[in-house]
Amino acid sequence: MTLAATRGRFLTFEGIDGAGKSTHIGYVTDLLKDAGKTVVSSREPGGTPLGEKLRDLLLHEKMHLETEALLMFASRREHIAQVIEPALARGDWVLSDRFTDASFAYQGGGRGMDRTKMEALEHWVHPLLQPDLTLLFDVPLAVARERLDATRALDKFEQEQADFFEKVRNEYLRRAAQFPGRIVVIDSTQSIDAVRADLRAALEKWL
Ligand code: TYD
Repeated sequence: MTLAATRGRFLTFEGIDGAGKSTHIGYVTDLLKDAGKTVVSSREPGGTPLGEKLRDLLLHEKMHLETEALLMFASRREHIAQVIEPALARGDWVLSDRFTDASFAYQGGGRGMDRTKMEALEHWVHPLLQPDLTLLFDVPLAVARERLDATRALDKFEQEQADFFEKVRNEYLRRAAQFPGRIVVIDSTQSIDAVRADLRAALEKWL
C-alpha cells in the first residue's frame, strides 16, 4: 500500500462557544470506533503537556492580540509535531476540538487581527496539513449564550460581548463559504437526533 493509502484522517470541530460542539464530538468518536477506526481525540489550544500550559495562559491572562495569536500557533506547532502527524502516519484518525479555523475566527474575525498575518502563521506552522473534514456547529448568538450561561463559569473568551461572537460566527461562515469542500456547516439549533443524522451524512463515505 502507498503511504497516502495508509495515512489516517484529520477531522476538526469548530463553532462559537456554546454552539454544542463538545456534546457531539463523543458521538462522532463512537461512530468512527464502531466503523473500526482507531481514534485519537485532542483539542486546541492544548493537546500536549506544553500546549495545556499555554491553554491555561490563553484562557485566563489578558495579552496583546498578536501575542494571543502567536501562542495559539505555538500550541498548534507542538500539537502537530507531538500528536497529529505521528497519529496520521500510524493510520489513526485524529479528532481535534478546534484548529486553525478557530484562530481565523477568534483572533481574526473577533479581535480583528489582519488576515494576511494569520495566513502567514498558517503557512509557517502547517504549510501542507489541512483537515480532511471540518464540522462547523452553527447557532445564533442568543442560543449559544443561553447554553453557556446555563452550564459553567466563563473563561476569558466566553466573557466577551455579543458583537465579538457575531464577528467570530461571521468569520466561521465566511470560511465555510470559502472552503465548501472541507467545511460542513451543521445547524446546531436542531434536536440532538437531527444533528446526529447530519453528522452521519457528513461522514458517510468513511463509515
Ligand atoms: P473551547 O474549545 O470552547 O473549550 P471549552 O469547551 O473547554 O471551553 O475553548 C477554547 C477557547 O479558545 C475558545 O473560546 C476559542 C479559543 N480559541 C481561539 O481564540 N483561537 C484558537 O486558535 C483556538 C484553537 C481557540
